[in-house]
Amino acid sequence: MKVVIVKDKKELGQRAAEIVAAVMNSRSTPVLGLATGSTPLPLYERLIQLDKQNKIDFSTAVTFNLDEYVGLPPDHHQSYRYFMDKNLFDHVRINKKNTHVPDGMAKDPDAFCCAYEEMIEDVGGIDIQVLGIGSNGHIAFNEPGTSLGSRTHVTELTAQTIKDNSRFFARIEDVPTRAITMGIGTILEAEEIILLASGENKADAIAKALEGPITCMVPASALQLHPKVTFVITRDAASKLQHFGK
Ligand code: F6R
Repeated sequence: MKVVIVKDKKELGQRAAEIVAAVMNSRSTPVLGLATGSTPLPLYERLIQLDKQNKIDFSTAVTFNLDEYVGLPPDHHQSYRYFMDKNLFDHVRINKKNTHVPDGMAKDPDAFCCAYEEMIEDVGGIDIQVLGIGSNGHIAFNEPGTSLGSRTHVTELTAQTIKDNSRFFARIEDVPTRAITMGIGTILEAEEIILLASGENKADAIAKALEGPITCMVPASALQLHPKVTFVITRDAASKLQHFGK
């Protein structure tokens, strides 16, 4: 596992964008796995700049997002489809038909989850997966206790995640309680993975993910099983590491 410790969010965006751009420039049809949340925003800002400078080409890219709230329509200001359109897709030369975000309004969410797995398989799998991390160690919406072999599925959000995400909603009662998420097994099949983290509130989760035992109680610790993972993290998020970065 590679750990890149950066001084601030701007550098996090730059370093992460270099890694994503290298993958995009080495494939004729790059398949990107994308995350929402506040952490990847500097990455998306940088990718937009690189696209404008013609240093990367989104026109042949295919994307799959990790997750979506169940019950939020795509035009809801807190849906992950809305987030991706506003923060990336609307600003780059990508064919929106090639951008996939789980359908939170699917009539049969379980059937949708199987179809999502097939869509990923049909394009030959994900070339690079971008991840954030929850303060409880979750990746995507795989909360502590999720099987390390899990596939795309519907999940109940924990009280901690509902609390963490309530800052984006008017009231905590408005935060959806269920989501569709890629599974840990799905994520581990990506050819390459980058996990981004900033802020001291992630320091515990980062230390457990990198230096703790592999356990379903810290879903990000499953990344230790993957052959090509880079953590790009700010100094405060790295502050509880004992071994990495020393
Ligand atoms: C979002 C996702 C989540 C976030 C995590 C961190 O698609 O999969 O696992 O990455 O909750 O969120 P932020 O970046 O807002 O701290």
